[in-house]
Amino acid sequence: MRSILKALPLLALAANVEARSCGNEHVPQNVMNNARMLYKQEQRANARTLQSWQDETLNINTYFHVISTDDTVEGGNIPDDMLKAQLDALNRDYAQIGITFDLKGTTRTVSEKFANDPDEEGTAMKKELRNGTYADLNLYFRKLTGGLLGICVFPENVEEGSDTFKNDGCQCHTDTLPGGSLKPYDEGKTCTHEVGHWLGLFHTFQGGCKGGDLVDDTPPESSPAFGCPKDRDTCKGDDLKDPINNFMDYSDDACMTEFTPGQKTRVMSCWKEFREKWNAQPGEDA
Ligand SMILES: *[C@@H]1O[C@H](CO)[C@@H](O)[C@H](O)[C@H]1NC(C)=O
Ligand SMILES: [Zn+2]
Repeated sequence: MRSILKALPLLALAANVEARSCGNEHVPQNVMNNARMLYKQEQRANARTLQSWQDETLNINTYFHVISTDDTVEGGNIPDDMLKAQLDALNRDYAQIGITFDLKGTTRTVSEKFANDPDEEGTAMKKELRNGTYADLNLYFRKLTGGLLGICVFPENVEEGSDTFKNDGCQCHTDTLPGGSLKPYDEGKTCTHEVGHWLGLFHTFQGGCKGGDLVDDTPPESSPAFGCPKDRDTCKGDDLKDPINNFMDYSDDACMTEFTPGQKTRVMSCWKEFREKWNAQPGEDA
């Protein structure tokens, strides 16, 4: 009995490293409708407005939450230098679209209930721990199960203090942080990808060859890319290679290197629609 119990976590870990998997493959209908609205708004915007969005910078208040089963590193209580490396990775990856992350606080929570919560959304954990306003990013680090490396929540209209508000934030599997054990997903880019969802971006393979990410300069692809498949082209007839280097695909960390100008446009139109107004307001904890 004991050996079976001990073997199970190893099997789970083996499943984890097989291939990237993110909890945001399904886009809720209201979020998709919002994206269609933003897409139309972007199409109507004049060149000067679009350029001003490209030039604009954002500095996002960020809260880290470390969730562990006990106070050991193995239990998920990762050291400060790993958290610093994750913050640096986010700032490195988002520099190309003018976004910086300002760490305002880190909480450490030892809780088997939260650490092992089979609810992949981590609803109970976020309800208790969320900090700041709806314009502030909350990142939760815990050992997600079921092969998930990360999961996040798309922006929408929320009311302060509502369940939807409290559920806002991204979770990244603890072992995907820089130096983590989930090779080849060990450079902190899982969090970069998840924060892309938090900013309103979909997967580049959303909707397959129909181009369902609603961003014109990310070529459509029929399915996620794994590894680093150069010259992959899964949608025939468009003469465009799949965007395997995009942060919103499923490639290995080493292969994820870019956001497009169209994605910056979406991030800005989405920010202005749903999050920016919260900047001026005091947060739940203020
Ligand atoms: C975050 O929120 C929790 C729960 O309300 C609170 O105890 C904690 O002090 C807050 N942390 C920061 C850095 O604001
Ligand atoms: Zn994703």
